[in-house]
Amino acid sequence: MKTYIVGNWKLNFSVGEASIYLHKLLKRVPNYRDVEVVVAPGALALQSLSLQIDRHKMKLAAQNAYYRDYGAYTGEVSFNQLRGLADYCIVGHSERRYIFREDDKMIQKKVEAAVRNKITPILCVGETESERAFGETADVIRDQVVGGLSEISEEDLDKVIIAYEPVWAISSTKSAKLASPDEIAEVVKLIRKILTDTYSAKVAEAVPILFGGSVNPSNAGAYLTVPGVNGLLIGGSSLILSEFADIIETAKRVKS
Ligand code: 13P
Repeated sequence: MKTYIVGNWKLNFSVGEASIYLHKLLKRVPNYRDVEVVVAPGALALQSLSLQIDRHKMKLAAQNAYYRDYGAYTGEVSFNQLRGLADYCIVGHSERRYIFREDDKMIQKKVEAAVRNKITPILCVGETESERAFGETADVIRDQVVGGLSEISEEDLDKVIIAYEPVWAISSTKSAKLASPDEIAEVVKLIRKILTDTYSAKVAEAVPILFGGSVNPSNAGAYLTVPGVNGLLIGGSSLILSEFADIIETAKRVKS
């Protein structure tokens, strides 16, 4: 399996800034066949960056989309409209769940719409600090994984990526803490088990599981060697070119 290095730019960079950043990143990063580099700019930049990007080197992701293909849904962007612009779409990020009140039902429809439109959803799951403190982590992860994938058949499971992002480890969370490799390994193992129980061991093994939460050049190597982790979803550090490039090089080194 490839290693996935995904940069989530969130609500940062103007269209012009995004283009300059991508230009520099394309110059800096060689074409690594076993590392899939993906950047997720804001929706407005997708059109121009899709013309600029070298798809042999890296891919584009959207940060969100709506599950209806068209209709009276003021302000929304559909997966259908993303076709040809983005290869991936982040779905169910904790910022969507908690700030924009997306529930598992909504997220499940988005995962289905992404696959239907041939865009790979990166389904984000993760518990909050209080859920962990109350011993609810396993239940929360199970609900989010099973809920998010409930419209996905066994045959389509290879078109999905899962990202484990404990909310308490995301750098913008107040008093964020670093997740330990053991904490991550335990949840990744659980996700794999949920997939095995719901589908089969064979398809469960093939689903890439990424980790996200305060990843930076100094911890990326340790996180990439956590058993079962197939890549990283990076926020803050992906906005700094030298750090993001560093993490990509680390991924290449760990892989070889
Ligand atoms: P940070 O890397 O800034 O903690 O953000 C993680 C994240 O939310 C990526 O989607």
